[in-house]
Amino acid sequence: MITSRTWTKELLRELIETRLSGVKFIVVSNREPHMHRYAESGEMECIETTGGLATALRPIMAATKGTWIAHGAGNADRATADEQGRLPVPPGNPSYTLRRVWLTPEQEEGYYYGFANEGLWPLCHIAFKRPIFRLANWETYQEVNRIFAKAVIEEAAGERAIIFVQDYHFCLLPRMVKEMGGANLVVAQFWHIPWPNREMFRTCPWSHELVDGLLGNDLLGFHIRNHCQNFFETVDSSLEAMVDREGWQVTRGGHVTNVRPFPISIDFEANEALATSPAVDTAMEKWCRKLRLGDRLLGVGIERLDYTKGIPERLRALDFFIESHPEWRGKFSFVQIAAPSRSHLPEYQAVEDEIDKLVEKVNWRWGRTDWQPVTLIKKQHGSVDMVALHRLARFFIVNSLHDGMNLVAKEFAASRVDDDGVLILSKFTGASRELDTALGVNPFSIHDTAHAMHQALTMEPEERQRRMKSMREKVSDNNVYRWAGNILSHLMKLDISEATVNE
Ligand code: F6P
Repeated sequence: MITSRTWTKELLRELIETRLSGVKFIVVSNREPHMHRYAESGEMECIETTGGLATALRPIMAATKGTWIAHGAGNADRATADEQGRLPVPPGNPSYTLRRVWLTPEQEEGYYYGFANEGLWPLCHIAFKRPIFRLANWETYQEVNRIFAKAVIEEAAGERAIIFVQDYHFCLLPRMVKEMGGANLVVAQFWHIPWPNREMFRTCPWSHELVDGLLGNDLLGFHIRNHCQNFFETVDSSLEAMVDREGWQVTRGGHVTNVRPFPISIDFEANEALATSPAVDTAMEKWCRKLRLGDRLLGVGIERLDYTKGIPERLRALDFFIESHPEWRGKFSFVQIAAPSRSHLPEYQAVEDEIDKLVEKVNWRWGRTDWQPVTLIKKQHGSVDMVALHRLARFFIVNSLHDGMNLVAKEFAASRVDDDGVLILSKFTGASRELDTALGVNPFSIHDTAHAMHQALTMEPEERQRRMKSMREKVSDNNVYRWAGNILSHLMKLDISEATVNE
């Protein structure tokens, strides 16, 4: 019986062991948690993949000892898995099974780059990029969803199982699993990105099919209530189904899908422990030298290089800030870490180009022999390096144009064991609902964002501390174990006694 109010890894494990014993736990996502690849030296390396999804699910999988099905995208992935694509992970301290699914380059192109990231990603984020829907990509998306559904049925192997599907890559999989003989499996899905309004969603030529596929789930989770409401409206306007807003469920063809908000989070304790480690102290010293920081204050931005993250808008705001506040010239520096992402797609190449040009412009306009306002580093960094930057930052900026949650903002708060540092946070992120003592900005307003930078740099220590303490309490309490615990507790209320594949 769970009594404590603070969710921990141990409590989650207790919940799983007492209430879900004998039930398999199977996660499905596109991105794998650990990827094997050959480095330039020819050596094989295993990397932890980036992104909110992998960050949130890794600790949960360690607690559940389940199976994680994902696309094996690394060039050394086949060499490290068995014939079925299975291997124990994490390397060195295995606690669960990774089942890799193999896709051809054409399948990856059509399903991942094409339908998911040129179609659904801009469709759901409304970041003023026109979604691209091609028939061939849609066909590949269906094909790949079927491949993953088949892997689910294989891994469930006729036993009682909960299938936990992740994200917009697998809208069709829940219904496919049920129709492939898994009618009694409990299927839940978490949607990691925003759900747009119904007018937007209906621009997708296959919007009905997508919604119908999602209604194969027993539970469908979004970050915030607003996304649930948008989903209800989309269902209402697109197909025959009974939407019960008060009961938070949709009934279609006699099958009930519960729809709920579950704000995702991070492993606060682990992040905090890392922030106080000697490795982070060393990394902080390294950054100070590398950035030639001296006694300058530091502003930091860290994210994937994605047009939804508002990096060009941030650089324009910095330019305006330096122009309108000459007293800060030479007295602060800004470092932007942009991890390359989906760079195969033209929209991503275009935003990278735009960012390069803007950095060049700002540094040319304001830089001096002894001071360069912006340092751009286009490279994925490990958690020690990122936490070190969190700790050095006077302000940390997340000005996404639209973001389902944004875990980077929560990681920043967890790293600030000194209760210092200011978070500038877009009002259009899910995280802004919880982190209400951050400096909220409209990322489309250059003035607003530049003003927040000034506020952050001039804020009194007591005020910084008051705001940061409040954010840290919230993230500590609403941690990733609460997220998983709430989802699992909800699933337990559904009848999982018969959760098997029909032979
Ligand atoms: O934020 C949405 C999301 O799909 C996450 O679920 C994922 O971790 C992140 O974007 C990175 O995306 P990708 O796996 O395409 O690199």
